[in-house]
Amino acid sequence: MCGIVGYVGGQDALEVVLGGLRRLEYRGYDSAGVAVLSADGVLTVERKAGKLANLEKQIAGLPLPGTLGIGHTRWATHGPPTDHNAHPHLDCSGAVAVVHNGTIENFEVLVAGLELRGHERRSDTDTEVVAHLVEERYAGDLAATVRSICRDLEGSFVLVVAHRDEPDLVVAARRNLPLVIGLGEGENFVGSDVTAFIAHTREARAVEQDQVVEVRRSGVTVTDLAGTVVEGESYHVDWDTAAAEKGGHEFFMLKEIEEQPAAIRETLGGRLQEDGLLHLDELSMSDQDIRDIEQVVIIACGSSYHSGLVGKYALERWARLPVQVEMASEFRYRDPVIGRSTLVIAVSQSGETADTLEAVRHARSLRAKVLAVTNTIGSTISRESDAALYTRGGPEVAVASTKAVMTQMIAMYLVGLYLAQVRGTRDPDEVRAHLADLREVPDLVQEVLDRMGSVRTLAQSLATEDRVLFLGRHVGYPMALEGALKLKELAYISAEGFPAGEIKHGPIALIEQGTPVIVIAPRHALQAKLINNVQEVRARGARTIVIATDGDESVTPYADTVIRIPDTKSLLTPLLTIVPLQVLSAAVAMARGLDVDQPRNLAKSVTVE
Ligand code: F6R
Repeated sequence: MCGIVGYVGGQDALEVVLGGLRRLEYRGYDSAGVAVLSADGVLTVERKAGKLANLEKQIAGLPLPGTLGIGHTRWATHGPPTDHNAHPHLDCSGAVAVVHNGTIENFEVLVAGLELRGHERRSDTDTEVVAHLVEERYAGDLAATVRSICRDLEGSFVLVVAHRDEPDLVVAARRNLPLVIGLGEGENFVGSDVTAFIAHTREARAVEQDQVVEVRRSGVTVTDLAGTVVEGESYHVDWDTAAAEKGGHEFFMLKEIEEQPAAIRETLGGRLQEDGLLHLDELSMSDQDIRDIEQVVIIACGSSYHSGLVGKYALERWARLPVQVEMASEFRYRDPVIGRSTLVIAVSQSGETADTLEAVRHARSLRAKVLAVTNTIGSTISRESDAALYTRGGPEVAVASTKAVMTQMIAMYLVGLYLAQVRGTRDPDEVRAHLADLREVPDLVQEVLDRMGSVRTLAQSLATEDRVLFLGRHVGYPMALEGALKLKELAYISAEGFPAGEIKHGPIALIEQGTPVIVIAPRHALQAKLINNVQEVRARGARTIVIATDGDESVTPYADTVIRIPDTKSLLTPLLTIVPLQVLSAAVAMARGLDVDQPRNLAKSVTVE
């Protein structure tokens, strides 16, 4: 949460920083701000509450010359989203500008000391203390000053600091939250993720825990908090600016939904061997390690949790292992019964979600082996896990996750099949057959996408509803949860997903005349039971919207509206049923005139507890 960017080079810093902020805005949009330092030492700060567009309007036409800049998009924690709480924050003299992502937990103690020593506080934020501390401690070496301050800070932070007297230096520091360096020619960058600088360079380096980065035009130096230089590897980002732009779509989410067939191909690519079996060296587990697994625990949050639930069905069916799926925010505070023979799979698009990260640390402290399933190379979760399986979905900018969830599900199927292959719980021909089915999924998803006109029409009729229920059974149940989450986060409609068999135990009381109930009912062994449930809600007045397989007429008598998907194996149906749910939620939000990419109160990459 919060996006930060820093730049030193030969270009107009304001343009570079604003470009970075545009791509980072998905991380928070409560306010935005920039600081630009000119060659003759004039430090100018502009900031504004609300979306980046407000800041851009405020600074339009203002002269803000300089080739060094820092910027911030905020997701408010300490203090409401006002102009005066927007970053960058300054010290008393206006010589120091600081942007910050995270929470400084001991800031009240630090503020008390600063006030006693005569500093004047101008915001409600925890961040401002850093600017005043730099003011107090700076003696000509900004990096040393930041290192000394970091030693006194508690909590999570990424800080980016500029000082009027250092026109060729941006200093950044990280603890617990993401920070990436962008390595250019005669210019260098730092950002919350590579999208901050992808328009300028595709060479990146991850910053590790408690490291401080000195970014100069000529190069970058990374040290630990004691000041010892730390060498590190750079990596090449294999996607470009086009992947991080809307490409003619009104919203990123619409583009990301459309990108799913290609994203699935990327996830599968290179992982299927010539003999039709799977090759997953990335798990870094010997065959014996895999045979020794006694249980699997999947930890994740939000939509990633729903991918984890789908994974449970696949792993149990194919690898014959007991699987639990846990919300990371609960798991991290429990006493789970896990150990060396437990494989923990942490599913996270961003690889930075605070609850999932802490759950990973918890699991590792209990000696479990942790596999990260993530979209983000070099993310904290991938680095802190024993192994990482990258989902290769490409950048996902819209706050609501779509192609990332899709590729997570594909990754979970791959893990399930690989464990089955190695443990011998499915014979090789069966594994080959399932992999062949997976290879067909991109085309099937494309087919679903090509049919979405009627779903957009349906969305118009749901836009005025204030409550929608989603029902599913077996692998349809996680999709009911996902459909409900998407609708509530995007369209602000109260939506709940239930296992269809559960509704008679309480939720059916919610049904009134005309209550929309969306039923995920592809062809499946449990379908007859599901149809009973559809009849139950219909008999009580529900308006039923049913997602059904082509040619399946068993549901039609009980459906007010039918959304068709092509046939596939029942275990794989979430890969198809999820698509109309995504399209529907985006279309309902658009019909309600809402910002699909940046729903209220949310941010992508939830790095606070
Ligand atoms: C919903 C959504 C969130 C995320 C959740 C976990 O559309 O995007 O629920 O799935 O915040 O995020 P990651 O996967 O980055 O750990």
